Amino acid sequence: MSEEILVITRPGGKQCAHLIPMLYNKGRFKLRLAAHTEASASKLKQQYPDAEVIQTDITSLAACQSLLTGATAINAVLPSLHSREREIGLNFVDAAVAESQRQGSVFKHFVFSSLVFTQSRMLMQHDIKSYVEERLYLSPLNWTLLKPCNFMDAYPVPLLANQHQPVVEKPWDPDIGNNMIALHDLAEASAKDALDVGKRVLTFDGIYKPTAHAHDMRCEADLSSHAIVDAVVWP
Ligand SMILES: NC(=O)c1ccc[n+]([C@@H]2O[C@H](COP(=O)([O-])OP(=O)(O)OC[C@H]3O[C@@H](n4cnc5c(N)ncnc54)[C@H](OP(=O)(O)O)[C@@H]3O)[C@@H](O)[C@H]2O)c1
Repeated sequence: MSEEILVITRPGGKQCAHLIPMLYNKGRFKLRLAAHTEASASKLKQQYPDAEVIQTDITSLAACQSLLTGATAINAVLPSLHSREREIGLNFVDAAVAESQRQGSVFKHFVFSSLVFTQSRMLMQHDIKSYVEERLYLSPLNWTLLKPCNFMDAYPVPLLANQHQPVVEKPWDPDIGNNMIALHDLAEASAKDALDVGKRVLTFDGIYKPTAHAHDMRCEADLSSHAIVDAVVWP
């Protein structure tokens, strides 16, 4: 088993439910899972007995530093709308920089699962993540930004796929461009791609193409197709 350690935050969450099985005991990484609660830690230990499960409070800089000690990479998912989300993100970047500069460090890569369109700061979670992205851009780290749109898994996709002309009630202003991604595709991009090449922004083209038909959003594309990954290499 390889000794490369990959730190994963929010391991009990929706994204990691897809990501962890793609990486667990696959021979490359030993996973270090940063659980929030005791209940979540014990569930993760049962699910992934060969992973290192650490129950910790990631609002603390010391906790972030300790999580990253000896690690090769991090896949960071932040707690959305947490009152200290920005601080948590900045702390992780600072902790990774310190770890990468420690003598004997093996730290190589910071993958930040952010979200699409952080340049528009109207929504609080976009505003917060834009600062974390900026800290990464300006850091000496090797990083990848994942820019997913809405998680499609929250919608009744099989039901819609069986309808001749699927329609879902619009959950957002149809005049604002929007789309969706399957969590499986997001995890695949991270597990198979993001962890290997740095200084890139990966955005995902949606499977739905929203169009402004009154108050409906019509699904126009093939629901079974995979998301398109657009990679922008940072200079
Ligand atoms: N929903 C969308 O459409 C969408 C789209 C793009 C990006 N995003 C972003 O995706 C991220 C959320 O990812 P997700 O949906 O995979 O997560 P999630 O399912 O909401 O994560 C749930 C997990 O978060 C942990 N947690 C709760 N409070 C915490 C805290 N204070 N500190 C650390 N962990 C805590 C819980 O751990 P315990 O079980 O231990 O309590 C729980 O297992 C957000 O940053 C969001 O902005 C969401």
